[in-house]
Amino acid sequence: VFAALAQAPEDPILGVTVAYNKDPSPVKVNLGVGAYRTEEGKPLVLNVVRRAEQILLNNPSRVKEYLPITGLAEFNKLSAKLIFGADSPAIHENRVATVQCLSGTGSLRVGGEFLARHYHERTIYIPQPTWGNHPKVFTLSGLTVKSYRYYDPATRGLDFKGLLEDLSSAPSGSIILLHACAHNPTGVDPTIDEWEQIRKLMRSKSLLPFFDSAYQGFASGSLDKDTQSVRMFVADGGELLMAQSYAKNMGLYGERVGALSIVCGSADVAVRVESQLKLVIRPMYSNPPLHGASIVATILRNSEMFNEWTLELKAMADRIISMRQQLFDALKSRGTPGDWSHIIKQIGMFTFTGLNSEQVAFMRQEYHIYMTSDGRISMAGLSARTVPHLADAIHAAVTQ
Ligand code: LMR
Repeated sequence: VFAALAQAPEDPILGVTVAYNKDPSPVKVNLGVGAYRTEEGKPLVLNVVRRAEQILLNNPSRVKEYLPITGLAEFNKLSAKLIFGADSPAIHENRVATVQCLSGTGSLRVGGEFLARHYHERTIYIPQPTWGNHPKVFTLSGLTVKSYRYYDPATRGLDFKGLLEDLSSAPSGSIILLHACAHNPTGVDPTIDEWEQIRKLMRSKSLLPFFDSAYQGFASGSLDKDTQSVRMFVADGGELLMAQSYAKNMGLYGERVGALSIVCGSADVAVRVESQLKLVIRPMYSNPPLHGASIVATILRNSEMFNEWTLELKAMADRIISMRQQLFDALKSRGTPGDWSHIIKQIGMFTFTGLNSEQVAFMRQEYHIYMTSDGRISMAGLSARTVPHLADAIHAAVTQ
């Protein structure tokens, strides 16, 4: 019955890994997916995560029962505290409904479906460009997706004027997707002053913020600093949605662990919001998995393990920053035409190189370097060993 079915294309990001895995070249480098690698190019399981798993393993009373539809209650509480701050007024006033979801994507999808069912505006504005999965997630959630200007290719920085203009002309009440920090794919974030202007404009027009926080700790190396944007929006007493992922900052990619928090106008509303979120989740996947959330809760509840986590996180962030400097220096020493200062100015896991899709294809063909066709490279996939090879490839691509 499926004989006439067309072959679907590979995912623009995860498909890069599929192609990379098929390439027999010994010099191949995967800079596609945003996943941290060590200097040796290996995936990293944080030491603190291994310790947490050991604790869980050694606990004989641990069972494999279903979690509630909303997930592990302690994980939800600790996750809200991590993102909004322990002294957040919204938490103290019990105005936050948090549900454990399947990492960032699952949190966005549950939030999107909730909004499509219960919010009076069905249009979400996403930055141009944004993570490739955002438009698909929200369209399938039942929302209409439009975009606002974000990135200026001429400056390789923020198009702040365009952003303000587009948010100003969005109909009152529209949903606005914001990257909490380390914007994917551009690595370009608003300054705190710019965030304040965005906040004022959005609140004055009753635009509803939907934050995506996939890189808390990866922009500045500090968990608190990386949520400043979010906390400004919570401090004003207004409502918002927050999709939170532990894939990158705890290296729990395959455990699919994240949370959706909805900051509501009152404690009473938060209770009803949570009840409706359960109706979204139950027919989708019943309830979330136990293991990853237990790891996170074990680490967040213990101050000594929490501190170890922050040190390991900072080490990952610092290695990425050092890769930026090394790549910049390597291009400079080759005299590669162009201004490459954005490599050191952009933040987080990615550099938005400015290379076009033909140059990306050339680098794959001739140098076995794999990246997304929009010219994004995952700095976390680089090492001192592979920087010269990448610099040679970029040099050849821009001078061919
Ligand atoms: C990325 O942008 O590379 C990551 O968020 C991984 C993914 O699922 O796309």
